[in-house]
Amino acid sequence: MKFMKIVRPEIWGHRGARGLAPENTLPAFKLAAKLGVDGVELDVHLTKDGEVVVIHDDRVDRTTNGSGYVKDITFEELSKLDAGSKFGSQWSGTRVPRLREVLSNLKDCKFKVELKHGSTVYEGIEEKVLEEVKKFSRLDKVEFTSFDFDALQRLRELEARASLGLIFIGRPRWFLDVAKRLEATSLNSNISLVTKEDVKVSNQEGFRLGLWTVNEEWEMKKAWELCPDSITTDYPDKALRERREC
Ligand code: G3P
Ligand code: CA
Repeated sequence: MKFMKIVRPEIWGHRGARGLAPENTLPAFKLAAKLGVDGVELDVHLTKDGEVVVIHDDRVDRTTNGSGYVKDITFEELSKLDAGSKFGSQWSGTRVPRLREVLSNLKDCKFKVELKHGSTVYEGIEEKVLEEVKKFSRLDKVEFTSFDFDALQRLRELEARASLGLIFIGRPRWFLDVAKRLEATSLNSNISLVTKEDVKVSNQEGFRLGLWTVNEEWEMKKAWELCPDSITTDYPDKALRERREC
């Protein structure tokens, strides 16, 4: 009898639930968890005084009422900024959280923690992120992800048990060698470039395949056809409603 693998793609809330609440904030992560996601994706940077904070851009301008680079602002200054109002007045007063606050507030959640830059921009960020994850006993709940493969390499040197995910825009097979060298867990590509063959090859080579960012109607349709191991979406509510086994 032919064995058929049944996959139920995991659904990850992108920057929490970016389509439903201010991105990378506690309300967004809590909402995603309440909706029943398999995990939340978030982005980290370092403040001037070395706090690991959860924000997507290098600068605070797009998502807060402040201006400037995260690396030039202290956490105290950052914590006074409003990270909710630009999404909607009902979110006014929402703050940029530290990684430690997110980890401690979401107890049963899995996380993809994306390092936007490694030590070339933020000296020692890999050590700091790892330290916080371990402090909250979340090593088994976190996958460290990055476009910056040097940051992943540093994390691997620091912690043999760390789960690592490469992020890229391209065909997964281009990244198999580096993923093997890093002993990574997953390959995470933009959905536009991935084929069913890519999913198969990635899995055959021992990697989970994640697709981002699955938002539009055609992207969700394509995702269910490709049957990856996970998708990351701004609209976890919709994805959870539509998800099917494949
Ligand atoms: O999951 C990967 C995805 O989050 C990368 O894109 O720009 O939203 O961080 P970005
Ligand atoms: Ca991200």
